[in-house]
Amino acid sequence: MDGNGRWAKARHRPRSFGHSAGRKAVRETVECCLREGVEVLTLFAFSSENWQRPQDEVGALMELFVRALDKEVDELHGYGVRVRFIGALQAFDELLQQRMRAAMAKTADNQRLQLNIAVNYGGRWDIVHAAQQAAAAVARGELGVEELNEASLGRWMSLADLPPLDLFIRTGGEYRLSNFLLWQTAYAELYFTDTLWPDFDQASLRSAIEDYARRERRFGRTGAQVART
Ligand code: FPP
Repeated sequence: MDGNGRWAKARHRPRSFGHSAGRKAVRETVECCLREGVEVLTLFAFSSENWQRPQDEVGALMELFVRALDKEVDELHGYGVRVRFIGALQAFDELLQQRMRAAMAKTADNQRLQLNIAVNYGGRWDIVHAAQQAAAAVARGELGVEELNEASLGRWMSLADLPPLDLFIRTGGEYRLSNFLLWQTAYAELYFTDTLWPDFDQASLRSAIEDYARRERRFGRTGAQVART
């Protein structure tokens, strides 16, 4: 969700104003996913690197997350949305952690849309975290080193219980993954748009989905092989 800062700057407003507008775009995107039948949406809300931003911006973002959780969770629950946070959650203050745990517990049985919010998340962190758990399983004698492979390691990765990632969207005109879902994007279709996140709306999401629908996903096979399946 890139571009909040530039969107605010263009309006001569502080960056936090852009993040508030970004929150509205999150709402619109979730509603659009519900309408379009998208089953899983994962948002990159705060990266492990975002702690390096000015303290007041980090503080404003934390406040915005708490307010958003307080205001939106009941409605999301009413829509049948399951909310899950991925990332190193223990770095957040106890109040925010408690709100995140409560939102996850409340919505745990919902099945219409799985909404994953990545906070203090990094793709490399995810891989290291999975490797640590695999090493611990080996140390306990529950897993042989020769049994460690893509499938077994993958089971410890965030979102492992969900279908593989289909479409990765980055807004704000940057052409990088920026340490998001590195393992999970192995076969994802990548879509980049210059639209700044606060301007991302239903039409933007539809364009991304239409672009995705035109792609041929070969997963290492030839086009002819894909055509036969
Ligand atoms: C990146 O834009 C955006 C963020 C670091 C924060 C994302 C947070 C929100 C959209 C708020 C709402 C989220 C939830 C889940 C309630 P940037 O600040 O890097 O923009 P720039 O590239 O223009 O500087």
